[in-house]
Amino acid sequence: MAKAKIFATHPLFEEARVILDGGCDVEYWAQPERPPREEILRRVKEKEGLVCLLTDRIDEDFLRAAPKLRIIANVAVGYDNVDVPACTKRGVVATNTPGVLDETTADFAWTLLMAVARRLVEGDTYIRSGNWKGWNLDQMCGTDVWGKTLGIVGFGRIGRALARRAAGFKMRILYTATKQAPLEVEKEFGAEFRDLNTLLAESDFVSLHVPLNSDTRGLLNGPKFFRMKPTAFVINTARGPVIDEAGLVHALESGKIAGAALDVFEQEPFLHPGLKRSNVVMTPHMGSASVETRSKMAAMAAENVAALFRGQRPPNMLNPEVLQTA
Ligand code: DGY
Repeated sequence: MAKAKIFATHPLFEEARVILDGGCDVEYWAQPERPPREEILRRVKEKEGLVCLLTDRIDEDFLRAAPKLRIIANVAVGYDNVDVPACTKRGVVATNTPGVLDETTADFAWTLLMAVARRLVEGDTYIRSGNWKGWNLDQMCGTDVWGKTLGIVGFGRIGRALARRAAGFKMRILYTATKQAPLEVEKEFGAEFRDLNTLLAESDFVSLHVPLNSDTRGLLNGPKFFRMKPTAFVINTARGPVIDEAGLVHALESGKIAGAALDVFEQEPFLHPGLKRSNVVMTPHMGSASVETRSKMAAMAAENVAALFRGQRPPNMLNPEVLQTA
């Protein structure tokens, strides 16, 4: 039997290639730059499977260009780049990579929180500039993290993993979510439920852990920042558009909040010029970027594709109804 034809928009990691190459006929994008959209559209014409990244937009136009496609495996847990209802309408399976990146992403959110609170990047920049004249009592004073209040927006796997880290710093932990967690979960994480406005008013650090959708786009905007303490910081490792950047810049410029640590941006890789401030730490969407985790994510996407063409249900389906038997 002919092997299923797959296009992968990235060379992926060895672990993933072994899985994919075992059962499929795979064409990998091999250039260091991301493929232009027209190039992807050209290459998927005859393909039955696609392994893509969060920078690849999978919409109606894309699906129309790939009439033989049976599966789209996104190498990310977030899938706001994939029009899942459009996939479902065309009988295309869509999958993501949940679970494998939670601890790595929580580690990074914690790293950002510590970095912005303790002025790590400012200190590094200062010492490299050659201007450091030696220790001084009021030099590079930041904000304590220990014992402060952390507000977690979105209490899924990553939000909870962050709560575990905060417990080690004896923080008071607040969270908000569409649904209050069961009492035993709140007890396990030592976390108290608040509505968003109350959480913003009470927290010293606000960390975002929600997916991007129509409910969360612009969730933190101008008026919301005005509810925060002037000494508070916001940390975003979720998706850029969850924050209205113009509103954030205004809040930073007017001293309505103390600072921000951002791994994601409204229009990556474009940076709002107003974010280039000493009280903003910025990183290039690297929350899950450890070799271990990124290769697990790629392997998981590969396994989703390989499973389908072995005649099995892909383990991480976003639209399981596509494979429902009558
Ligand atoms: C995701 O998986 O959604 C991250 O943004 C990239 O790891």
